[in-house]
Formats: sequence, C-alpha cells, structure tokens
Amino acid sequence: MTRVLGIETSCDETSVAVVDDGRQVICNLIATQFDLHAKYGGVVPEIASRAHIETLDALLEEALSIAKIDPAEIDAIAVTKSPGLIGSLLVGVTAAKSLAWAWGKPLIGVNHIHAHATSAAIELADDPWPAVALVVSGGHTSLFHVRGFDAVELLGGTVDDAAGEAFDKVASILNLGFPGGPRVDKIGSGGNPNAIRFPRTMLKEGSLDFSFSGLKTAVLYHIHGPGKTTGGLESLSPAATADICASFSAAVVDVLVEKTMLAVARTGVKTVVVGGGVAANSMLRARLTARCEADGLSLHLTPMKYCTDNAAMIAALGYHLMQRGYASDLLLSAAATASADARF
Ligand code: KG4
Ligand code: ZN
Repeated sequence: MTRVLGIETSCDETSVAVVDDGRQVICNLIATQFDLHAKYGGVVPEIASRAHIETLDALLEEALSIAKIDPAEIDAIAVTKSPGLIGSLLVGVTAAKSLAWAWGKPLIGVNHIHAHATSAAIELADDPWPAVALVVSGGHTSLFHVRGFDAVELLGGTVDDAAGEAFDKVASILNLGFPGGPRVDKIGSGGNPNAIRFPRTMLKEGSLDFSFSGLKTAVLYHIHGPGKTTGGLESLSPAATADICASFSAAVVDVLVEKTMLAVARTGVKTVVVGGGVAANSMLRARLTARCEADGLSLHLTPMKYCTDNAAMIAALGYHLMQRGYASDLLLSAAATASADARF
C-alpha cells in the first residue's frame, strides 16, 4: 500500500488529503475562503495567498490527526504546482518541499487541470481510460483525450471566459452573490430552460474550442436592454430571474454536451469523464447522463466532493504518476501557467 499526502492551494481553497493507492481517500479537508472574497465579487490573489499561509499548517495537523497517522506512515507528498495564482501555488509548493525534506519523503508536483481531468477515477475500481475528459471549472473549460494518467492530450479549450467564470459573471449581473455557479444552478432549477433563446457559440465548424463571453453579454443586454449595462434588474420577478438562470444554464450545457460528443466522435473512445467545479451543475449532469445513455457511452461524473478544488485528486494523480516512474525534486517550482499538455 502506498499512502500519499496531497496539498492543493492553487486558488481560493486550502486543501490537504491522505489517499491510499490513488483510490482510497482517508481524509480530504477543504478550507474555503468564500467569506474573505465575497465582498470583492471574485478572488483577490493577495488575500488568497495570505489565507493559505494562515490555514495550511493547522489543516496539515488536522489531516494527520483525522487519518490517525504520523509522518513516518506517509510514503510520498504530492502538490499542485501549476496552473493557478502564483502566490497561492507557492504556499503549497513551499510547504510540500519543506515536508519532503524534513520527513525524507519523495515529492511530486502535479498539474491541477490534469488532476481535474482524472478525478473521476478516484473511486472507480478500474481505470476508465481511454476517455474524453471534460474539465469545467472557474478557470478552465477544456476537452482532453486521456489515454492514461500520464497521457493527457488537450483537444480544445476556451478562447475567452471559462464556463464557471460565465456562471459567476451572470450571478454577479443578477446580484446573486459569489460564487455564482451554485446559486444560478439552484435558482435555475425552478425556471424554464426554454424561456429565452440565448446564443450557443460553437465557433468554426468542427472546433473543440469554447467561447462564453458572447453569451454573458447576451444575458447582460437581456436584463438591462440592448447596449445598456445598468437598469432593469429591479423589475425582474423571481420567476423571470429563475427563467434567465435556467435559459443561461441550458445555453452553456448545450455547448458543453455537443462539443464533448464531437470529441468522442473524433477520438473514437467509448467513455466520457467530467471534472471541475462546474461538473457539480445539476443540468450538466442530467443532460450528459441522458446523452451518453442514448449514444451507448459510459459516463463517469466525478463525485461531487471531488468536483471543486480538493487535495484528494492531487494525491491520487500524484500516486499514479509515481507508479509510472515520475518524481520531482526539491528544485520543484510553481508556475502560474502550464502547457495544457505538460505532464507536470
Ligand atoms: O474547480 P473549481 O473549484 O475551481 C477552479 O479551479 O476554477 O471551480 C469553481 C467554479 C466556480 O466558477 C463556481 O461558480 C463553479 O465552479 N461551480 C458551479 C457549480 N458549483 C461550482 N457552476 C455551475 N453549477 C454549479 N452547481
Ligand atoms: Zn480547479
């Protein structure tokens, strides 16, 4: 048995996990910073990195105490090294390197997006590869062809806003608070997804890239009036707000489902996996489930607790990479951006 300690600090969640053999999650602690960023309507990088510094040590101690283990029982340390907010990433990477050195354990730096792309495998008995992986989060909307834990090939990504970012911006236009995705999801579940026909941007024929900024602008003009950026909000009834949330969600979900199916046709795989914060969206889960069933594909939706940022997915991918001979050393550094195809 190989026991990996995972550390994740790429954005606004501090997370520490202990995972055995890449599948058995012993604990997965997540400290969110929602309250710290809510009044700014988005994540403030400097506040995020300071909060990671204040939280991480206590979370590490709590994880070891919950897992009832001492450092000697940990076999390796995995940490998110890219992409993300550089100050936030540095907190996790520095802590992981310090522990690896002090405890004399192997270290592995992990690509955060690849961890989302492979997170559906955490609780599966058998690896689901080859598969098309849809990663939909606040920072990324990408399709990958995953042939294995160390073979993650980018097929397409967003050219402007990420899907989660569009959810957050629409929530902000509607004054629903931050983070917006879960609120738009919940309010929209009481609305009519066909009430307003918002645009579905498919880009050029056959493209596996995404664009959501036009959709966001369409929602803005629908509320305020063409060409306007203020007014109109006060006259929206709760039912009209629910219809906007449902119709906006339907437009995002239609594009995500269509492009995922295009990626399936192009790669010839029979399996779809979905990860990232927006994978928690109820409409996306329902429509992908129906479509995959209709097309005879197997679908693995990442369990809700591993959809948003978490260290369990980092520890799990770290384990699988180490099994395949990859390792980092104490020169490991954080990077805000990473080639989407980069293994680390
Ligand atoms: O993966 P994640 O925790 O962080 C990033 O790496 O970005 O994703 C957070 C994003 C946010 O934009 C949030 O609004 C969105 O995921 N999100 C949702 C839902 N739950 C979280 N979007 C739509 N529906 C949801 N239920
Ligand atoms: Zn993420």
